[in-house]
Formats: sequence, structure tokens, C-alpha cells
Amino acid sequence: MTPPTVHSAAAPDTVDSGRIAAHLARFAQLTEAGEGCTRLAYTPLEREAHAVFTRHMTGLGLLVHTDPAGNTIAELPGDDDTLGAIGTGSHLDTVPHGGGFDGIAGVAAAMEIAEVVARRGVTHRRKWRFIAFAAEEGARFGQACNGSRMVAGLTGRADLDRLVDRDGRSMAEAMSAVGLHPDRIDDARWRPEDWHAFVELHIEQGEVLQSRGADIGVVDLISGSTRLRVAVHGRATHSGGTPMHLRHDALVVAAQCVTLGDRLARDEKHHGTRVTVGRLEVEPGSITTIPGAVDFSVDIRDVDTVRQRDVARRLAAEFDRIARAHGTSAQIDVLADTSPVLLSAAIAGQVRDSCAALGLSYRVLPSGASHDAQQINRIAPAALVFVPSRNGLSHAPQEFTSAAHIAGGSRVVLETMIRLDAEG
Ligand code: GLV
Ligand code: MN
Ligand code: MN
Repeated sequence: MTPPTVHSAAAPDTVDSGRIAAHLARFAQLTEAGEGCTRLAYTPLEREAHAVFTRHMTGLGLLVHTDPAGNTIAELPGDDDTLGAIGTGSHLDTVPHGGGFDGIAGVAAAMEIAEVVARRGVTHRRKWRFIAFAAEEGARFGQACNGSRMVAGLTGRADLDRLVDRDGRSMAEAMSAVGLHPDRIDDARWRPEDWHAFVELHIEQGEVLQSRGADIGVVDLISGSTRLRVAVHGRATHSGGTPMHLRHDALVVAAQCVTLGDRLARDEKHHGTRVTVGRLEVEPGSITTIPGAVDFSVDIRDVDTVRQRDVARRLAAEFDRIARAHGTSAQIDVLADTSPVLLSAAIAGQVRDSCAALGLSYRVLPSGASHDAQQINRIAPAALVFVPSRNGLSHAPQEFTSAAHIAGGSRVVLETMIRLDAEG
């Protein structure tokens, strides 16, 4: 085993929180109008953010390309071309009116790590890759982690026609509209034999680290999610002229479905299950007309793979029953279904050792949200490193993590990469 040329503690010490803050501020400018940050998957704004990443990496002398799925990958060659690569990165898209840290923190960390390594001439045996994944948020098309799912072979060409946004535009159409290549996504696939390990830095999106005063979270398990689209069809008629016993009110049905999901996830058998209805559209949306149609989403998250699917099945059956009881019908489609993932214990061990070497405190914890590392773990053993979220807030304009915390997490990722580089 060849030891790394530079002492492992030297390079992580030079990670600069000021440069990280500058990257975050630059990305925060790329947003639609309104509160917080809105940079949806496969939009021109997301592509502009990828162009910022590309310019930074090209300026450092890295080889950069954007694959047909829209993932941007920057590579620093290592001394031994035959060895598997080590990667780090996250995503640059956001939810509507989200924050400037979810995903972006991990990309800013990758930009800073690349700068430290390239400018200081840190030598490494393996190829080091820095990645901005495309379309991680499920907010636009229902399914999360699209770019990383495509490189892992978990989403194929047919899915790109099936997944549509609220305007009825398919993912394939949206990709083509921003110059990407849905017909060539197979070329974006990663080969496991080309990889050694992947480490993602991400904000926690919960308040465990803040409440425990820990610098770093080492994730052992990532929740799965099953997402449903429910379309209830009732009858739109006059709100004054239609007596209560003659109504087929789609919103009354939807309201019962919403509260049923909430109740189920709160009972003692479902401790840890999360059920959310985050989108609900009412037609015709008039104060004087009984709602004739309601379309809503359901997001079921769990670290227990069996319970996740049981809840999805049970809710679908109950929704159907509630709809019939009101003389309406419910059409239920599964939009996306991702299993929980147990991450590599070996790489998590390297992350913990790195925290200890750098004098940073850590806690081992599960992730409630989905992450690109969850998909990449299919290709190469992956680790997920959390940094604290202020008051646990995320997917909201109030989302905040200090640049100092992100710099701490970046040091841990760099130290971990140096250790992984030295592995046989
Ligand atoms: C990704 O942000 C998710 O929704 O878990
Ligand atoms: Mn994210
Ligand atoms: Mn997110």
C-alpha cells in the first residue's frame, strides 16, 4: 500500500470557509423570483448553476463533462489509472421556495476540496471525481435523485416519458429543452469496477446535531420513500342548490385521506414512519361550487422497507374505500418507490476516524431525506456526512447552515478521501 504523499492532516486544514460562503452566495443568485431559492430540476436555472460549477472546475485545470442525464463530473487524474475512483458531490437543484444549502452545501464542499487539492498539488493514487448531480429533488417530477438514479441504472429511458410535471411536461421533454439527451441516458451509466468509493456531504435537515452540539453526522441508514398520486373524481355542482345528502364532494374525500395518513403514521406501530400530503389541487376551485376533482400527492418515508410498502398498500386500499363511500372514485398511481439503504459500514468507519483525527465531534444517525449517495451506493460503497441545520429547517427559505460548519464537514470529506485513496 502506497501512503499518500502529503500528510493527511495538512490539506484538510487549508479548507477555507470564506471560499465556501462565496460559492453558496453565487448559487443563491440563480433563483426564480419569490421567497427563498427556486431552481427546479431540468430548468435553465439549474443548467446555469451547473455552468458555474463547470467554470470553477475548469479554472482549476480539471477535466469536466456533463453527461446525457445532466450530471456534471470533474475529474482529477490519479497516479495509478488502473485503480477505482473516489467521488464526492451532491446536487444543485432546489424545491420551490427552498433554501440555498440542501445539495448546494455538498457541491460547494466539492468545489473547495478540488481547489485545495489542485492548488496545493496534493497527490493521490486514484482518480478523484467531483460531481454536481442533476434533478435530485422530486418536487418537479415526483421521483427524487434522478441524475444519480440514471448513473446507477435505476431509472431508464421509458421512465423519462412516464414522469411528468404539473404542466404535463415529461422529464424527457424537459431534458431536451435544456439541451440534454434523454435518448442517450444509457451512456451516463457508471461501471462499478471503475469506482472505489463515494462520499457525499449534505445538510442534516433535522435538528439532532444542533440539539446534541455535534459538528458532524455520520449516516448509517437512509430512509426509503413511496410516492403516490391520487386523483379523486366527484361531481361539481352548485354549493347552494345541492343538499348535503346529494353531494359527491372530492375535497371531503381528500380531506379524510389526508387525516387518515397522518393518524396512521402517528400510531404506536408506526413510530418513525412519515406520511405527508404536500400538494393538493382542487377543481374547479370556486367558492360557490362543490369540488368535483382533487389531485394530491402522498409521500411515505420509512427506514423499514416492509412497513413503508405496507403503509402505501394500506393507504391506497383505504383511499379507495373512502372514495366509494362518498360516491366518488379514486385513481391511485405509484409515482416513485425507493427502498431504504444501509450505507457502507467500512466507509462510515473511515469518516468517524477522520472526525477523530480532526478533533470534530460526531453522532451516528439515520437520514429521513433521500440522497444521491443512496443511489450511488449501488455502484460503489458510499458514505453520507451531515453538517448541522439551524433549527432543523429545510425545504424552506429559513434553511441555514454556517459556512464554518460546511468547512468542518469538507475537512472530514477530504480527510476521508485521503484515507480511502490509500486503501488497497
Ligand atoms: C430530497 O430532498 C428528499 O425529498 O428527500
Ligand atoms: Mn438534498
Ligand atoms: Mn431536498
